[in-house]
Amino acid sequence: MDKIVIEGGYPLEGEVVISGAKNAALPLIASALLAGGVHVFDNVPDLVDIKTLLKLLDYMGARSSRNGKRLEIDTRGADKCEAPYDLVRTMRASVLVLGPLLARFGQARVSLPGGCAIGARPINLHLKALEKMGVKIDLEQGYVIARVDELKGAPVYFDVVSVTGTENVMMAAALARGTTVIKNAACEPEVAALADYLGKMGARIKGAGTDTIVIEGVSELRSGHYNIIPDRIEAGTYMIAAGLTGGDLFLRNCQAGHLQAAIAKLREAGLVIDVDSDGMRVRRNGPIRSVDVKTQPYPGFPTDLQAQMVVLMTMGNGLSVITETIFENRFMHVGELQRMGADIIVEGRSAIIRGSGNLLAAPVMATDLRASASLILAGLVAEGKTEVSRVYHLDRGYERLEEKLSSVGARIWRVK
Ligand code: UD1
Repeated sequence: MDKIVIEGGYPLEGEVVISGAKNAALPLIASALLAGGVHVFDNVPDLVDIKTLLKLLDYMGARSSRNGKRLEIDTRGADKCEAPYDLVRTMRASVLVLGPLLARFGQARVSLPGGCAIGARPINLHLKALEKMGVKIDLEQGYVIARVDELKGAPVYFDVVSVTGTENVMMAAALARGTTVIKNAACEPEVAALADYLGKMGARIKGAGTDTIVIEGVSELRSGHYNIIPDRIEAGTYMIAAGLTGGDLFLRNCQAGHLQAAIAKLREAGLVIDVDSDGMRVRRNGPIRSVDVKTQPYPGFPTDLQAQMVVLMTMGNGLSVITETIFENRFMHVGELQRMGADIIVEGRSAIIRGSGNLLAAPVMATDLRASASLILAGLVAEGKTEVSRVYHLDRGYERLEEKLSSVGARIWRVK
């Protein structure tokens, strides 16, 4: 299995081009199932998660081809309404095919995703909402068997804000009879991006990006073309890398508007961030200041940047409390960071970090996607050579990570 080795202590300087957003690309690719035709997406990141979803669409009968950052998906032959366990198991977001399959074919057999490293992550809210739209759901041998003669628009209220839940319902509602109103909807930019593309396909959607989305069902959608928005989590990770190493990075192709909570917190922590129309310049002049952070649904501080923020706070000048409110078990990186000398204790949903400004290299193990990124960040400032194993998690969500980091001065390489 591959390992990544990092020799710490080098400030990052130069320019990093931010890739297209994984979490925007995944629902967009799933939405191609809503209309048989050739869908064209630009700025698609080359990531394992994207390949996994394309494998699933391929299994269903679609065909895709990639040319650089352009991806074309031909869904005319897609008629197998099944998402098997082997594919869903490796990536939870495979559940995004449920809404489109029900909307177009009235049936779906989708494996339940099961637990994952960062918590139970059930899909009960997706199922409850679809039932309100008239779908009959049975669970058999770990599979959701869903059927509907005709999807009906309905009022849907999410007890907990769910990103993929909102996306699934929006896609199903686009082809339902009547109007669906989603309350307590996820406001993430990736949800708004999906609504944009659905609009190009002929859907009638208002309010995406707010907590109330109104979808008036139409009888048919057509394929279209869409340019994927930049990955705000990748950008946030590089911002933290610049601050941690005391470097000076320009992040090209990122949208500061999608990162307002992170920008505010990072400025409070002592980073200097200049935003212009091409991207963001991020650097640090003084010490890293310890700040408290609480993760929240968008527009709050993203849970997907929590692990990286914990690393920044190990270099802070005092005490920091980082509270995770979205996932119940998202502090797996803490044990590994402790092995690198970090002074962190976890109490319930909070990590209490005493900044010491000193991390020591060690062999560490990645446990999930964002935890892996945090270990790479720790390696960038630790004294000595840090070896991160199980890097397949990183390959799921960070495009050409070692290449991008090396190009701005990091000493980082992969060992096969
Ligand atoms: C998405 C993102 C992921 C991010 C997360 C939270 C994608 C592909 N992934 O994941 O990177 O970390 O949002 O911002 O976009 N929940 C339930 N029942 C449900 C659905 C969710 O209890 O049916 C709970 C979850 O366990 C979690 C919370 O709701 O505690 C939020 O999860 P959700 O927004 O659904 O996460 P994902 O959409 O899976």
